[in-house]
Amino acid sequence: ATRSLIDRYSRTARDLRVSLTDRCNLRCQYCMPAEGLEWAPTSTVLSDDEVIRVLRVAVERLWVREIRFTGGEPLLRKGLERIIEATSALRTDEGQPPATSLTTNGLGLARRAHGLAEAGLRRVNVSLDSVDRATYTAITRRDRLDDVLAGIEAAADAGLAPIKLNAVLMRGQNEDQAVELLTYALGRGYELRFIEQMPLGPHEAWNREQMVSAAEILSRLRVRYDLRRADATERGSAPAERWHVLDRDGSRLGAVGIIAAVTDNFCGACDRTRLTADGQVRTCLFARSEHDLRTPLRSGSTDEELAQIWRGAHWGKLAGHGIDDPGFLQPDRLMSAIGG
Ligand code: GTP
Ligand code: 5AD
Ligand code: SF4
Repeated sequence: ATRSLIDRYSRTARDLRVSLTDRCNLRCQYCMPAEGLEWAPTSTVLSDDEVIRVLRVAVERLWVREIRFTGGEPLLRKGLERIIEATSALRTDEGQPPATSLTTNGLGLARRAHGLAEAGLRRVNVSLDSVDRATYTAITRRDRLDDVLAGIEAAADAGLAPIKLNAVLMRGQNEDQAVELLTYALGRGYELRFIEQMPLGPHEAWNREQMVSAAEILSRLRVRYDLRRADATERGSAPAERWHVLDRDGSRLGAVGIIAAVTDNFCGACDRTRLTADGQVRTCLFARSEHDLRTPLRSGSTDEELAQIWRGAHWGKLAGHGIDDPGFLQPDRLMSAIGG
């Protein structure tokens, strides 16, 4: 196992999250400022072929087994289908194609869901913070709720299951819509997860005291539904804690996930590694430093040399995000440039 990505806390990273662009067509308040950001210069963004090479190194030399495509908004990447196709042709150390998934805001998904499934994509997670148009528009700063709902439906139609929905609750915006969101998801068989807001967006957008916590989300849901914790052995390294949702008469309606990234972090079981659109390895969302793969990639390094840089990076992976440590500083890059 000396070939895989291990760190000094004995965690092994088998789940790679690749950002394919730092651009986005929404401006969610918890993620980006209204005016957007300065995008990475095109020349620094890895080409399709460069991404595909790096993914091959990860799967064949570092024993990565799962690959998630993120952004910014990954659907803005023209070569997405091609990259997925090439990923699906790889074989992991277990002889299987890597499990592929996409985390998207859903805009334009209606047109592309079938093609993505054909290219080999297994499943999608779609951000949906409200099913109320005015609230959705206020949070994302774009009036696109209908496009997103159509995208989610198309994904279900294309068999990209299970469909997971991500909702970040923000104080004074959608904090009172937890039940409404869950009712929407249960009625259609989607798995909704509520995520605690993390300090990864504009600095003024996050405040520890104002944050809607997992405990508060659970108590809001319990006004309408009974919740029973699912078996913890099912969880593994997944960020979401799953709960069974029961109606008042005891019948099971489905499940809901709570991602308590701040108040009950899952860093001890972390199995993730990340690659930014401009070719930097990040061992943690909150890492203060990055490891450059782009330069060696473009100056003739061998696959094994790239793998070696990546292994070295993981040996220095932090124990956890440290949000509650005195002197905590959020990373220089915002979420959209890191990749969710
Ligand atoms: P699946 O349940 O396997 O589909 O994956 P996921 O929940 O990890 O993926 P998704 O991209 O939908 O992320 C959901 C939320 O969890 C987002 O807010 C992510 O930023 C957050 N998240 C994902 N991975 C990590 C992680 O390693 N650390 C922390 N702190 N948050 C994470
Ligand atoms: N805190 C928590 N989740 C966030 N996301 C984006 N920014 C934040 C943040 N600051 C979520 C999005 C998306 C996923 C990739 O990450 O809602 O679903
Ligand atoms: Fe892993 Fe860092 Fe996320 Fe914790 S915050 S789960 S260590 S990536």
